[in-house]
Amino acid sequence: MQIERLAVVGCGTMGTGIIQVAAQTGLEVVGVEATAEGVRRAQDRIEAGLEATLARGKLTPEQARAARERFTLTTDLDAITAADVVVEAVFEDVELKVEILGKIDALVGENTFLASNTSTIPLVVLAAATRRPERVVGLHFFNPVPAMKLVEVIRTPVSEPEHVRAMVDLATRLGKSPVVVNDVPGFVGNLLIVPYLLDAVRAYERGVADMEAIDDVITLGFNHRMGPFRLSDLIGLDIVHDMAASMYEEYKDPRYQPPVLLKQYVRLGRLGRKTGRGFYVYED
Ligand SMILES: NC(=O)c1ccc[n+]([C@@H]2O[C@H](COP(=O)([O-])OP(=O)(O)OC[C@H]3O[C@@H](n4cnc5c(N)ncnc54)[C@H](O)[C@@H]3O)[C@@H](O)[C@H]2O)c1
Repeated sequence: MQIERLAVVGCGTMGTGIIQVAAQTGLEVVGVEATAEGVRRAQDRIEAGLEATLARGKLTPEQARAARERFTLTTDLDAITAADVVVEAVFEDVELKVEILGKIDALVGENTFLASNTSTIPLVVLAAATRRPERVVGLHFFNPVPAMKLVEVIRTPVSEPEHVRAMVDLATRLGKSPVVVNDVPGFVGNLLIVPYLLDAVRAYERGVADMEAIDDVITLGFNHRMGPFRLSDLIGLDIVHDMAASMYEEYKDPRYQPPVLLKQYVRLGRLGRKTGRGFYVYED
């Protein structure tokens, strides 16, 4: 099945990135937001994303114009009915996602593929909210979507191979490098990166070294672009905390237990770059 029409439900950081990339690639896209204000915010984000891509020379003005004409934004969920694939990208809230997946399932044709961009919620929980669990997979894009190559395609034990293949093809067509992984909490990326980030906090708590020194060891000694504290600030300390808590709940392995210091920063509202303060202070 050739995928031509994409719908994205939830047009925040991730949803707008997906819409931008899909529109640039030549797909017809409809984005659904909860409120008119959400639609306005999404429009501004996509416009800023296209401008930034244009400024980097990765798009011609003509291509940017064409991309602008390929997407529409609305608050009307009925607009998704003609989509070949619907990607859900609302808040990381299991009750909300279950409700939205149920509504999407009721609106679209039986051949439509459903995907969720969830970072930590088991896909089987979302699949079970629909009448087509075989046709629900994860499409885990990374932030910022236009720049990051990886997409984890998450399959469940009942996923149709045809659906998994279609999502791999779609991600490839969007210029990404898809990797198929199974539906375990954290998938591969967060399964490995979260305990590493938490270990860095624990090392700091134990007085092994200060944060800058730990970051320097990782950037200078291992050629990572960022050390664990700067990376946590980029992801958002609340997000790191919630991912860890959700994996700890599932695995009951102390490696995933959020360290006290991380909890304290979150409670203080020092969430990282997005609030201007996290483990570090950001002047810009
Ligand atoms: N931010 C990241 O780094 C990142 C990376 C990978 C995956 N994810 C996942 O992607 C998903 C979205 O994350 P985000 O960072 O874009 O969040 P976000 O808060 O930026 O965006 C979520 C959007 O969903 C909208 N929304 C909420 N309820 C809705 C409804 N009923 N109908 C339509 N829209 C609704 C909100 O208005 C908001 O704009 C989450 O599942 C998250 O775990 C996030």
